[in-house]
Amino acid sequence: MTLDEVASKRRSVRHFKDAGLSFDERKSKIEEIISFVSENAPSWKNSQTHRYYVALSDDKIASVTNALVERNRPKCTNAVALIVSCFEKNVSGFSKSEEKLVPDNECGNEWGAYDLGLSDSLLLLKARELGFDTLIMGLRDSAALKSALKIPESQEVMAVISVGMRSDEPVKPGRKTLEDILKIF
Ligand SMILES: Cc1cc2nc3c(=O)[nH]c(=O)nc-3n(C[C@H](O)[C@H](O)[C@H](O)COP(=O)(O)O)c2cc1C
Repeated sequence: MTLDEVASKRRSVRHFKDAGLSFDERKSKIEEIISFVSENAPSWKNSQTHRYYVALSDDKIASVTNALVERNRPKCTNAVALIVSCFEKNVSGFSKSEEKLVPDNECGNEWGAYDLGLSDSLLLLKARELGFDTLIMGLRDSAALKSALKIPESQEVMAVISVGMRSDEPVKPGRKTLEDILKIF
């Protein structure tokens, strides 16, 4: 599959069918996806602050689902995995100066979030290449996720990404025009 095919086939999918995969099969697919991210994602000074916590067991999938806002919960039905994407704070975009941690510019920890977005983008595309669909969910309870998955305070929780197999063809939402988003000088 070309990048064009993978990217254009990727959609936010909110209805999954039963994929019929065992725990071990799902684990192996998730490891393949996250290895791809780890091997290929760029990051500020190669700081690699992305961290992934993956719910595969029924009880962990239930805990992560319950940490979503109510309207997102039904979208996780039949998910093969729920991935909580996080980053280690105060690393990407920071330097040590005289033993003090100093932001390299005005963006501070936004660079950690920026790096994680790049990683997550590769994650979505790799999942698609392997025949899976995804949904990024930003409406979640960070404290509940930290407690359920023992995520340290040094990390920021960003999105929950569901992984599954589409039960029907999703509709592509409209896009802005090139004129809306591009200025060439
Ligand atoms: C940071 C982020 C947060 C999102 N949060 C949610 C969410 O909480 N619930 C949801 O149904 N979709 C969520 N989405 C999915 C967007 O609605 C979707 O990407 C957008 O409508 C474009 O559709 P497409 O992904 O099919 O191209 C989120 C997407 C991003 C990138």
